[in-house]
Amino acid sequence: MKGSIPEDKIEEVRRRTDIVSLIGEYVTLKKTGKNYLGLCPFHREKTPSFTVSPDKQMFYCFGCSEGGNGVSFLMKLNNLTFPEAVRQLAGKVGVVIPDRPPSREERERSTLGEQIRRVNGLAADYFAGALQSPAGEGAREYLRNRGIGAEAISTFRLGFAPEGWRNLLDFLDKKGVPPKLVEQAGLAIPRAGEGERGHYDRFRGRLMIPIEDVDGHVIAFGGRVIGAGEPKYMNSPESPVYTKGNNLYGLSRTREAIRQAGFSLMVEGYFDLIALWSAGIQHVVATLGTALTRAQVDLLRRYAPRVAAVFDPDEAGRKALARSLELFLAGNVHAKAVILPDGHDPDDYVRTRGREKMEELVARALPMVDYYIEEILGGRGTLEEDRDKLREAVAFLCRIVDAVERNLFIKKVAETLNVDEGVLKAEIQRTRAHSPAQMPAEQMRRKAPTEYDSVEMSLVQMMLEYPNKISVVAQSGVLDCFRTGELKSLGEELLAASLEGGATKDASVFVGSLSEGPLRNKLLALLVRESPYHEDLIDRLMADAVRQLRERANKERGRILTRKINEAKKAGNQELHDRLFAEKNRLLREEKELS
Ligand code: UTP
Ligand code: MN
Repeated sequence: MKGSIPEDKIEEVRRRTDIVSLIGEYVTLKKTGKNYLGLCPFHREKTPSFTVSPDKQMFYCFGCSEGGNGVSFLMKLNNLTFPEAVRQLAGKVGVVIPDRPPSREERERSTLGEQIRRVNGLAADYFAGALQSPAGEGAREYLRNRGIGAEAISTFRLGFAPEGWRNLLDFLDKKGVPPKLVEQAGLAIPRAGEGERGHYDRFRGRLMIPIEDVDGHVIAFGGRVIGAGEPKYMNSPESPVYTKGNNLYGLSRTREAIRQAGFSLMVEGYFDLIALWSAGIQHVVATLGTALTRAQVDLLRRYAPRVAAVFDPDEAGRKALARSLELFLAGNVHAKAVILPDGHDPDDYVRTRGREKMEELVARALPMVDYYIEEILGGRGTLEEDRDKLREAVAFLCRIVDAVERNLFIKKVAETLNVDEGVLKAEIQRTRAHSPAQMPAEQMRRKAPTEYDSVEMSLVQMMLEYPNKISVVAQSGVLDCFRTGELKSLGEELLAASLEGGATKDASVFVGSLSEGPLRNKLLALLVRESPYHEDLIDRLMADAVRQLRERANKERGRILTRKINEAKKAGNQELHDRLFAEKNRLLREEKELS
C-alpha cells in the first residue's frame, strides 16, 4: 500500500508537516519550554502528560506511552492506514499526490473502510448535485422554509436523494462501484424476496445530511422526509467506518469555533445544529438523539474542556441529564445545563428569539451538578419520593470516581436532601462494597518498565539526535560492546542508514518506523524531552560514552582472561597460558590509552 504513493512525495509531506500545528488541530496545546503539552487524546487524564516536540517532530504521552511522528498520530487518532494518513496530511500541507485511479490490485488490497469512505464521498456529491437539480426543487423549498441558506447547505453538504429505486446505484455503477460495496456502505439494501436479485437504494425522496468524522470524511448519512412522514429520519446502519456513539455530528465543521470559544454547545438534532450555526453560534455539536457516550465526551474534550448541553425540562430530559453528568464528571469536562422553555428546541428558539436571547440562555446556564442537585434532587416530596431520590443520589454518588469530587457532592446532596452526611457516606460505602472494584483506566494501561543499559541508551539517543556524528560510533566499533541486543541492532541500523544516504532519515521517522514495544516507547520518551546533549558538547559526550562502554567491555574481557589464565596454569598448559597472558597485556595497554 505504501507503494501507491511515491517515496519522494511521502518525504515531502513529512518535511512540510509541522507536528505542533497538526496535533494542535485536535488537541489544545500549551507551550512549556521548548515543547508543547496537552491532555492526551489517547487516554483519559486530568493533568497533561501528552508532549509534542517541535524540534524532533514527535509526540509522546508519559501517561499511556503512545507516541510517534505526525503520520503515526493521524493513523492512531483516526484509525487510518499509512497511505490514508499520508494522503490526509498531504492535503493539509499542500502536497499534490497524483490521484490516479487505483489499479485493480490496489483496490483489492485497500481496506474496506477506505473504500466505504470513498463511496460515501461519491454519494454525498451525488446527493448535493441532485438537490440543485430540478428534482430537488421540493427539498430546496423545504430548506428555504426552515431558514437554511446556501452557505449552510454547502458547509454541511446537504443533498437530496430523489424518488426511485436505483438512482444512486446507477450513478455509482458508472463510477465502477459494485452494488455489494454500496450495500456495505449502508446505501443500498439487497432485495430479500424469493427469487429476487439485486439491490435498491436505501434513501429515496429524502433530504440527505452527511455525517462526517472530525476530518470531514463522510461516514454515514441521515435522511429526513420532506415535510411530514414516517420515519422522520432514516439513518445509515453501522459500518466499518461508522459506529453510533463514536462521533459527534458537525464537529468537522465546528471544531475550530469550539476551540476558539473554549466550550461547545451540545444539542440533539441535525437541524438544531444547522440552525444555530446559521444564526452565528458556530461552536456547536449534536449527539443525534442518542444517549451521550464516553467516546463522545472524550472526543469533545480534545477541542475544549467545557460544554454547555441543552436539555428538555421534561422527565426524559432529566434522565438524560443525570446520565450525561456522570460521563462529564468521569471525563473531566466542566458541564453546564442549558434548559430551554418547555416545548422549544434550539432550532425554533434561535429562529424565533434570535441569537442574543439564545446566548443569554447559555450564559445563564447553571453548572450541571448544581442543576442536578437542586432541580432533580431538590424539593421535598412524599416520603416515598424522597426515598427514591436518596436511592438515586446514592447510585449517582457511587459512580463518581474521584474521591475529592465525591466528597464535595456528598456534602451538597446531604444538605439538599436534608440527610445526615455520615449516613449518606455509610450508605455509599455499603453500595460500593457490593459493586465490582473499579480499576482506573490509566493504571491498567501502564506497562511494566523494561530496563536498558543507560550508557548504551544514551549513545543511541545521541546517534538519533546527531546523525552527522554517527561516523564516530562507526569508527570505534563500540556497538560490539553493547550488552542489550535490541539496542545493538538499532545502532547497527542507524549506522547502515547513515552510510546509505546520510541524514535524511531523521529521528522521528526512524523511531516512528520501529515496531511497537518497550524500546520504542522508551526512545520516544527520551527524544520528546528537551535534549540533555547540547550541541557544543556533543563530541565530548559521545566520545565519553564510547570510552565508558569500551572500558566496561575491556574489564569484562580482562576478568574472563584472568580466569582462563588461572585455569591454563592449573592444567599445566604453558602455551595457552602465554597466549592468554599476552592478550591480557594488550588489553591493559588499550585500557591505559582509553583513560
Ligand atoms: P428531533 O426529533 O429533535 O429531530 O430528534 P430534529 O433534528 O430536531 O428534526 P426536525 O427539527 O424535526 O426536522 C433529534 C435527533 O434524533 C435523531 C436525529 O439525529 C435527530 O436529529 N432522530 C430523530 C432519528 O435518528 N430518527 C428519528 O426518527 C428521529
Ligand atoms: Mn427540531
